[in-house]
Amino acid sequence: MLSLARSIIARPALARTFAAPSGIASLHTLPDLPYPYNALEPYISGQIMELHHKKHHQTYVNGLNAAEESYAKAPSVKQQIALQSALKFNGGGHINHSLFWKNLAPTSEGGGKLADGLLKSAIERDFGSIENFKTKFNAATAAIQGSGWGWLGYNPATKKLEIVTTANQDPLLSHAPIIGVDIWEHAFYLQYKNVKPDYLNAIWNVINFKEAESRLAEAQK
Ligand SMILES: [Fe+2]
Repeated sequence: MLSLARSIIARPALARTFAAPSGIASLHTLPDLPYPYNALEPYISGQIMELHHKKHHQTYVNGLNAAEESYAKAPSVKQQIALQSALKFNGGGHINHSLFWKNLAPTSEGGGKLADGLLKSAIERDFGSIENFKTKFNAATAAIQGSGWGWLGYNPATKKLEIVTTANQDPLLSHAPIIGVDIWEHAFYLQYKNVKPDYLNAIWNVINFKEAESRLAEAQK
């Protein structure tokens, strides 16, 4: 009886040892790319994609998990507030990159092709033409000072597509993100050096417009 009682008592303690820290629902993980690393060549090199995904995105995932764990354990509101920039930076990095991978597609799988339909009509309505939209998008994105993201966003208030930029890893909150382009140097420097316009011109060849169209349809519901 004594040993049975001991084992019953021991179980909750054992369970606590292996349970996730309180307040953390689950750990964030690096999502798989929906295509091989070299599938976007020659527009984005396999070397960039592998480093970008395995190293940079993984770092945001690790940073987000660490920040959430610290936040859950923070003994005061003051210390929770002190962690908010780490949550924003790493959480934004995880959200933005998860969106970015799906935002791209190899040309053999339709990357770069904008078919007639909801998205094409909306771009033509709001920007006059596809070429005009790309020119405006690239100009706004290239003009970001430092690191950030260029976005085609759907504004739920005006019900229009708009070009927006965010700094650092700030996620797009004012609009529903339809297309996001990473303009951090880690996204292009190994291939395009300092020439941002060449990277921005090339990326349209591998933009997944089907994914963008489904995001627009979802945003308009
Ligand atoms: Fe990035």
